[in-house]
Amino acid sequence: MRLAVTSDLHYDFEGHLTRPAAVEELVLSLVDSRPDAVVLAGDIANGYAAFEACLAEFKGLGVPVGVVAGNHDLWRDEKLGLSTEALWGGALEEACERQGLVWLESRSIRVGEVAVVGSMCWYDYSALDPSIAMTREELARVKSALNADARKMDWRRKDADFAAELERALLRRLDAQASDPAVTAVAVVTHVPLLEQQITRRPEDPRWSTTNAYYGNLTTGHAVLQRPKVKAIVSGHSHVGQQAVVERGALGPVAAYVVPSDYQQPKFVLLEL
Ligand SMILES: [Fe+2]
Repeated sequence: MRLAVTSDLHYDFEGHLTRPAAVEELVLSLVDSRPDAVVLAGDIANGYAAFEACLAEFKGLGVPVGVVAGNHDLWRDEKLGLSTEALWGGALEEACERQGLVWLESRSIRVGEVAVVGSMCWYDYSALDPSIAMTREELARVKSALNADARKMDWRRKDADFAAELERALLRRLDAQASDPAVTAVAVVTHVPLLEQQITRRPEDPRWSTTNAYYGNLTTGHAVLQRPKVKAIVSGHSHVGQQAVVERGALGPVAAYVVPSDYQQPKFVLLEL
């Protein structure tokens, strides 16, 4: 089974982030690679109308297309008056359904013996560089100076609580697929990276080392790695491409990726499972 994962498309009608034409080109090269399934791993667009327009670019592929949101997709939409709660609580999923794509927070994809499960996941500060001595409370307090989510999302949920909620739901879907004897391999796709091998470390840069708190969830990654049928974890969010093999002894290796997309330069990775 060939799985294509793209991420961080940041589709933007005005073209300040990523021009629609660049996404159209990406879709053409996706088609050329003849995937059996495709996943969009979050930070899809700038605003709700652009979110749905971007999904529409993927609806004619003739294979299942899964979607997880990213933190940018949860930013309050000022033009349409859509709050973060309204977006997360239904609007994003409804856009996905209208375009015939699979909202991976509710459903999973199965192609032959391979299952694809996904979640946006959320950062819980566990990827903070060990050299930075800051507590969770301090990281929550300084977030507005370091990460735009603090200003652009208009709910008051705590990051750690939201991260735990998404982890529980992801593991439920993962275990439901893995418990089926017909499934031999599971690919996990998330917006927020889950593994140390997906995190970019720059120990010489204290600001980068601190903002890594908002760039990963190693807690969820640890739980996912306990599941033997998991063969690959693919994420986005950082715009820094990564590719690694995580050895697990008797449980076998896991391929880990971060999709190397950047503004105006959307990319995808291809996996054979
Ligand atoms: Fe992101």
